[in-house]
Amino acid sequence: MAIKQLFDLTGKAALVTGGARGIGRACAEGLAEFGADVAIADIHEENVNKTVAEMTEAYAVKVEGIVCDVTDAAAVAAMIEQVASAFGKLDILVNSVGICIWRAALEVDEEEWHKVMDTNLTGTFLCCREAAKQMIATGGGAMVNIASMSGHIVNTPQAQASYNTSKAGMIHMTRSMAAEWAEYGIRVNTVSPGYTLTEMTQTVPDYHEGWSELTPMKRLCEPEELVGGVIYLVSEAASFTTGHDLVIDGGYMVW
Ligand SMILES: NC(=O)c1ccc[n+]([C@@H]2O[C@H](COP(=O)([O-])OP(=O)(O)OC[C@H]3O[C@@H](n4cnc5c(N)ncnc54)[C@H](O)[C@@H]3O)[C@@H](O)[C@H]2O)c1
Repeated sequence: MAIKQLFDLTGKAALVTGGARGIGRACAEGLAEFGADVAIADIHEENVNKTVAEMTEAYAVKVEGIVCDVTDAAAVAAMIEQVASAFGKLDILVNSVGICIWRAALEVDEEEWHKVMDTNLTGTFLCCREAAKQMIATGGGAMVNIASMSGHIVNTPQAQASYNTSKAGMIHMTRSMAAEWAEYGIRVNTVSPGYTLTEMTQTVPDYHEGWSELTPMKRLCEPEELVGGVIYLVSEAASFTTGHDLVIDGGYMVW
């Protein structure tokens, strides 16, 4: 097969959680551009409807919208069933749901701690587990979990111990799943972005200059700059790649 064709996703069925905006939406658009049918799942119903309408207009693939809270195990199981019944299968899962609460460890209460862990770590686990059951039934698939460079480094100046811990957990959880599910033809990888311009980071504009200064490339990432890595990892081009964490951070972790 020609190398270029290894990236073609025509006929694949994909699900992007957290796909209604930000990095998830950019990934959903990339998957559609490479030919996959795409289901967008998100807790924010209005954004789901908007994204589905805009993507249906822009791409010649099937686009499905699902409103789902990934912390709810029953809702996650129903989401996977909905994708399987819409597309007949599930080949690709990209998990982009994530929240960050910027608060010092001494001040984080149990409720906040659990909210971050439930959303980022347990939510991702539930989506991977339910998707794996579906993928096993059809002979395999590929998953990418959007982790963060915060799973490797401790950010500064803002304090965010709960987020950093959840992302470190996601990276190692992904490796564990990669080991367990290789025999089923399922590859599981993470992409770890550096600071990226989305609505998540737009809530703290005062940090942007300092973050850029700490980045060798002296700027923040655009969501589209993460998409090529995700496409690579879910495509046949990465057929021998599993349990890997692809850091895309403008060099932040080099210093
Ligand atoms: N923006 C950054 O600088 C950055 C850097 C590294 C990693 N990341 C990670 O990338 C991912 C996407 O981040 P983003 O910047 O696009 O954020 P974002 O806030 O723009 O998008 C996150 C999406 O997840 C959805 N969501 C939140 N909780 C949910 C739940 N319980 N169930 C279903 N959907 C839920 C939101 O509605 C939203 O659409 C996150 O995992 C984040 O931690 C972001």
